[in-house]
Amino acid sequence: MKILIVGTGYVGTTTGLIFCEMGHQVTGLDLDDRKIKALQAGKLHFYEPGLEDLLSKHFTAQNIIFTKNAKSAIEENDLIFICVGTPQGEDGSADLTYVKSVAESISIYMNRYKVIVTKSTVPVGTANLVTKWIKESQDEQIPFDVVSNPEFLREGSALYDALNPDRIVIGTTSETASKLMRELYQNFPCPIIETNPKASEMIKYAANSFLAMKISYINELARVCDDLKINVKDVSKGVGLDHRIGPHFLKAGMGYGGSCFPKDVNALIQIAKENGKPLSILESVVQVNEGQPRYFIDKMKRALGGDLKNKIIAVLGLAFKANTDDTRESPSLNLIDRLKVEQAKVKVHDPIVKMTGRSDQFPVIEETVVDADALVICTDWDEYKNLDWESLKLLMKQPYIFDGRNMLDKGILESLGFHYVGVANH
Ligand code: UDX
Repeated sequence: MKILIVGTGYVGTTTGLIFCEMGHQVTGLDLDDRKIKALQAGKLHFYEPGLEDLLSKHFTAQNIIFTKNAKSAIEENDLIFICVGTPQGEDGSADLTYVKSVAESISIYMNRYKVIVTKSTVPVGTANLVTKWIKESQDEQIPFDVVSNPEFLREGSALYDALNPDRIVIGTTSETASKLMRELYQNFPCPIIETNPKASEMIKYAANSFLAMKISYINELARVCDDLKINVKDVSKGVGLDHRIGPHFLKAGMGYGGSCFPKDVNALIQIAKENGKPLSILESVVQVNEGQPRYFIDKMKRALGGDLKNKIIAVLGLAFKANTDDTRESPSLNLIDRLKVEQAKVKVHDPIVKMTGRSDQFPVIEETVVDADALVICTDWDEYKNLDWESLKLLMKQPYIFDGRNMLDKGILESLGFHYVGVANH
């Protein structure tokens, strides 16, 4: 098949390359000159393990091309995936400006029947809106169908997730579009859920919000466990082995971040409100998540003698999770802001993220911890697991470790003379 991917971010680029793997011919369209130039040079404009090799393979084989020319891209391709961003608007709802602008371009350049697929996470009813936008700006009516086909891949394991989805969701009322989509996904060994576009759009929000809810549940429970001196990791394990619950997304820590959970939970809250059926359970999920760095700072304050004023705090990790350079809604940045409010002196490190304008960022961990009163783990990077703790301790002013990801071995650190504080990691 010839496929057009509009929007070359995480979702668009990964989806396009996966389709190349399946033997299809892909065009990636983006208006951003910087992104297109990088991709045309075989370079990703974001960090995602394994993806650059796949890009290089399919770019060299000419299975994928990148362009800014919307007219020819739309004219030449009859299956079009919309993978543009849907950022959070001021009221928490998803901003559909980019989706609308793609719909309008499609309607202008549409030369024959097209199947238009929304892969970006979009509010319930967006497929109908896309249909309306296209129809409204068409001079002569050319037939088309709109399908909702949400993407569930995670940053950091995008390639694996896109190749091994748990399920594929296809939301359409058109027989023709449904047949085409089933053909496109025929080699994926997972269930295909066929439903209408609204249900498909809801599935994505409901899934992300449920996962966020699991995280906030375990994080709030961790606060109780902390008081009762219970190890929350044991609780997660014991609870997660119940197959009705499952072990995933029960890791207590600093709270969830990233480009999806915070935005999607808020968007679903907004959808529910607009329909007069508030989702109070999700409002609590957000509240717990926003309070988690505060809870952690309070623990730090208690351990370090009451306040953090002028204390040097080495923060390890800026990304919202390991294996990505994404800092959007990162709990780490939230914690750093709060440390500054407490008048602490912050030094930061991340193996991949290079934040412009951060004079307090150091390229190596040793430099970051020099004279530190405490070290805080904010991102679960593998390289923070087995550091040379004995040497690091000699560089620090005080041997305090705050493990915001519960990823270090408390026993080993305590045997080396560190004061270890995790998230209910007793
Ligand atoms: C998420 C969804 O998993 C994915 O299906 C969707 O398409 C996009 O949003 P992503 O944001 O890339 O993916 O990351 P994910 O691995 O889900 O983690 C989200 C956040 O939750 C991270 O900040 C992570 O550290 C945190 N998390 C995750 C926890 O705090 N505890 C857990 O047990 C799991």
